[in-house]
Amino acid sequence: MENLRIPGPTPCPADVLQAMAKQMINHRGPEFGQMLNGVTTSLKQLFQTKDDVFLLTGSGTGGLEAVIVNTLSPGDKVLSVSNGVFGERFATIAQQFGAEVTPLRFEWGKAADADAVRQALQAEPQIKAVLVTHNETSTGVTNDLASISSVVKEFDKLLLVDAVSSIGSINLPVDDWHCDVTVTASQKGWMAPPGLAMVSVSQEAWQAHSKARMPRFYWDFAKAKSYLEMATAQTPWTPAVSTVFALSVSLEMMLKEGLPNVIARHARVGRAAREGVKSLGLSLFTKESYASNTVTAVAASNGLDTKKMLKILREEHQIVLAGGQQSLDGKIFRIGHLGWITEDDIEIVISALRVVLPQAGFKG
Ligand SMILES: Cc1ncc(COP(=O)(O)O)c(C=O)c1O
Repeated sequence: MENLRIPGPTPCPADVLQAMAKQMINHRGPEFGQMLNGVTTSLKQLFQTKDDVFLLTGSGTGGLEAVIVNTLSPGDKVLSVSNGVFGERFATIAQQFGAEVTPLRFEWGKAADADAVRQALQAEPQIKAVLVTHNETSTGVTNDLASISSVVKEFDKLLLVDAVSSIGSINLPVDDWHCDVTVTASQKGWMAPPGLAMVSVSQEAWQAHSKARMPRFYWDFAKAKSYLEMATAQTPWTPAVSTVFALSVSLEMMLKEGLPNVIARHARVGRAAREGVKSLGLSLFTKESYASNTVTAVAASNGLDTKKMLKILREEHQIVLAGGQQSLDGKIFRIGHLGWITEDDIEIVISALRVVLPQAGFKG
C-alpha cells in the first residue's frame, strides 16, 4: 500500500473505508435523511457556525463555483486576494461568470497582507465581495484570515473563503471571523474520499443570494436549504451516497477526538514536518510564521531534482509526495499532512527523504 502524503486526497481510516462498502440506500428515505441531518449537525460544530451548512456533491472547485454563483451578479466588483494557484482559480471562476475582478496578488510563498486589503478596499468603494484562500495549498501558506476578515468587515463587504485545505484541521471559527461563505471538500482534512464539497452560508450571504443574478441551477443554495428542511432531509440531486457514509463515520471520529485536539495535532504534525525538513538541510519555501499546518512546501535547492526524488520515493519507498504546481513545477515539493496523520507518519517521510535526497542530486 502506498503511503499517500499529498495534500488531498488523504488516506482514510479503516472504519471510513468500510462505511464506503455499504449497500446503497434510498437517498430520499428516512435512513439517509437521518444521516444527512447528523452530518450537517456535526459539520456545523466543526465549522464553528450556527448558520447553514450544506453538502454539495462535487469537488472543492465545484464548491468555489457555488460560492460565486450564489452571491454575485454579472458586473459585480470583486477583490481577489491571491497568493497561489487556488487564489487564482477562485478569481478565474468569478471572472468567467461575469464579475469584475480586481486582483490583489502577493508573491507565491508569501502571505496576504491585511493592510494591502484595506488599501484596495479604500481605493475601490464599489467592491461588493472579497475572495480569500485561507490555506494556499500550492505554496504551503496559511493566510491571516482573522486580520483580513476584520478589514473586510470594517468595509462591510462579503467575505467568501476558500477553506478547502484548512477548515477541520486549522482553526477557522466561521462565525467569529464573519466568513459569509466558507468552502471545503471531503478529501482534505476530513479523512473521507473525494466527492463532496461542504459550504457554510451566513445571513449576509443569504441576503446577497436573494439579489445574485449569476446563472445557477445545480449549485443553488436555496434548493439545498429547502430539501434539507423537508420532513425527510434530502439533497436536491442524487448525492455521493458512499462518500456521505464515509463522512458520517469520519466526522464522528473527529468529534470524539475533539476539534481543539484535532487542531493541536495538526499544529504538532506541521511543526514536525518543518523541523524534519530543516534537519535534512532543506529550506522551507515559506516563512515559518505563516507556514501551513496541513501542507509543507519545501524549496528545491543544492542540486535537488524534485522529479527524480518523487519518483524514487514512490517506486522504492512507496511514499507519494506532491510536486510544485504551475510556475512552481520543479522548484518546490510538498508534503501533505492533513486528516488521518500523526508525527510518526512524518518521521517515516523524513527518514525516507534522508536516503533519497542524495540519490536525487541534493548536495546539502
Ligand atoms: C485551497 C484549495 N482550493 C481549491 C481546491 C480545489 O479542490 P478540488 O480539487 O477538490 O476541486 C484545492 C484542492 O487541492 C485546494 O487545496
